[in-house]
Amino acid sequence: MTYEESAVTRTIDRLLNDHQHELDPSADGALDNLDQFHIGGAEAVERLIPTLALTPGDIVLDVGSGFGGPARQIARRTGNHVVGVDITPAYVEAARDLTARAGLSDLVRFHTGDIADFRPPDPPGAFGAALTMHVQMNVRDKTTWFRHIAQHLAPGAHLAVWEICQPYEAELPWPTPWSLDGTDSFIVSADTLRADIENAGFTATDWANESAWVKDWITKTFANGLPPGPALPMLLDDGYTRVINYATALTDGTLEIWRGCFTKNDFAKNDQVTSS
Ligand SMILES: C[S@@+](CC[C@H](N)C(=O)[O-])C[C@H]1O[C@@H](n2cnc3c(N)ncnc32)[C@H](O)[C@@H]1O
Repeated sequence: MTYEESAVTRTIDRLLNDHQHELDPSADGALDNLDQFHIGGAEAVERLIPTLALTPGDIVLDVGSGFGGPARQIARRTGNHVVGVDITPAYVEAARDLTARAGLSDLVRFHTGDIADFRPPDPPGAFGAALTMHVQMNVRDKTTWFRHIAQHLAPGAHLAVWEICQPYEAELPWPTPWSLDGTDSFIVSADTLRADIENAGFTATDWANESAWVKDWITKTFANGLPPGPALPMLLDDGYTRVINYATALTDGTLEIWRGCFTKNDFAKNDQVTSS
């Protein structure tokens, strides 16, 4: 199985100690190479933030929050509270550790578990927006999974996604960042993913192929080789092979990246319209 690195917090501690003179974990952007577990890094999160349409007081739900990079970035930029949910206990522990180092524990918190079992203290529908970045490719029944997300959102709330899709049937180069051998990978086409999300009770307001932007980002980011300092592949088993395989598949078009903004349907309103 993937996501079995159990000593992430210890690895982070060692990396940050080794670089303590040139890296202040509380500085905006300092951890960007380490804690953004998706293609496009912090710049991808910047593209999603406006689509969340946040107003003051909205609480944001980050589903599959990983090491917490996107959650912390959103809290920093907007001042909104963010709640991350992730199925991997060691990742949640690392996310909490990095959040404390960043001085953001008052704004950002994390729960361990699947969204299907998530029972927050906040009432159902309490979240004003949600995002999920590079998670659904590990989920077989996507409509049910997105329906669980919908249950936590207020009607009209925005859901932002940054997702991997496969335009045509092709063998993928394992291992990848989300799957070591392909047995826990459930990648679908962009049309299928959009339909699965809409069938879960959302309406798409934006659905864009970002593959060209991602290719430019890969070229720009790695133009001078690997960025210096602590980097995400150092936290992952076989990390560099996984990241290189993924970048290759994105560059040759075997995989695509799609960005979506969806609005949660207001079923109560629809019912009223139907019955009047
Ligand atoms: C590729 S990482 C992305 C992390 C984060 N969204 C980011 O972009 O930095 C995928 C994450 O999804 C989590 N995950 C996988 N399946 C999940 C599920 N059913 N519910 C919640 N989290 C899940 C994994 O533990 C992992 O942290």
